[in-house]
Amino acid sequence: MNLSSSEIRRLLTTSDPTAFDELAAEARRLRDAVYGRRVFMRGLIEVSNHCRNNCLYCGIRRDARCRRYRLSVEQIMECCRVGYGLGFRTFVLQGGEDGWFSDEVVCGLVREMKVQYPDCAVTLSLGERGRESFARLREAGADRYLLRHETADARHYAMLHPAEMSFTHRMECLHDLRELGYQVGAGFMVGSPGQTVETLLEDLAFIADFRPEMVGIGPFIPADGTPFEHEPAGSVEATLRLLAIIRILHPQVLLPATTALGTLHPTGRERAVEAGANVVMPNLSPQDTRALYSIYNNKLATGSEAAESVADLRLRMQAIGYEVPVDRGDFKT
Ligand code: 5AD
Repeated sequence: MNLSSSEIRRLLTTSDPTAFDELAAEARRLRDAVYGRRVFMRGLIEVSNHCRNNCLYCGIRRDARCRRYRLSVEQIMECCRVGYGLGFRTFVLQGGEDGWFSDEVVCGLVREMKVQYPDCAVTLSLGERGRESFARLREAGADRYLLRHETADARHYAMLHPAEMSFTHRMECLHDLRELGYQVGAGFMVGSPGQTVETLLEDLAFIADFRPEMVGIGPFIPADGTPFEHEPAGSVEATLRLLAIIRILHPQVLLPATTALGTLHPTGRERAVEAGANVVMPNLSPQDTRALYSIYNNKLATGSEAAESVADLRLRMQAIGYEVPVDRGDFKT
């Protein structure tokens, strides 16, 4: 199925429920042809909620009056140890743009992870850095980098971010990461303030063209204490449609059923898998810091987000006909 922009526009705006069923069936067929009925898991380690940035939507933005924490190198390594035992073969170090996580610190961490767990992939999600920094981290052994583009429309980008942040720099980062040999993750929120069908079409055109190895999308959820705290949340339905469309536009993509979706709907992640997603990212962060990584309200911090309930996640996926292998889950070219 080759989707034209007028077809995508219709799929994004139609109220005909059978349109979605056909879309999801096609998305599943394409995903299964590339990856089989397998959902890959990544162990998410939220290393710090300190952030120098002030993104208008984000609950851990610089001006947010939230309690701040950062994990020590020892705590992070402990998360990996527990995670490895649970069957994780990808670890994602995610955090705000925290100067404490210098190149030296992160390179040290990545090297240690690669020595102790040579069969695992290391993914970084630490925000924008310079090309030299990305190069050092890659040299140290990082395999993948997640940096959502947030929106492919420069004017929309400027509505979501303070003037000191630049759309051009964001895109430069993604191109640098690609050139340095990372598997690159982009993505955006669904239903963010100012988003329109036009900006979504730009997001989809960007994905079809850049072909990121991973695309993280989830509904926007208002975060207390941010300029967008009273804005409405994005919808689960719209997110599921977009997941299916992204799978169809880019069949090899690694597509997570995100926490934000699980937060808005009890079986949100199962529905995402049934719309073409094939990655889940349970939280491996220490139990007491999970609640502090509050990028939006009511973020899941228990249930199948807890590493201890990986078994539950496996059962949920098996119940809808999917295996969760002990596997790095690399991008298939
Ligand atoms: N709702 C949903 N997603 C959010 N993110 C940040 N704040 C919110 C929010 N309020 C997403 C952004 C960011 C990622 C780490 O989390 O897309 O890139």
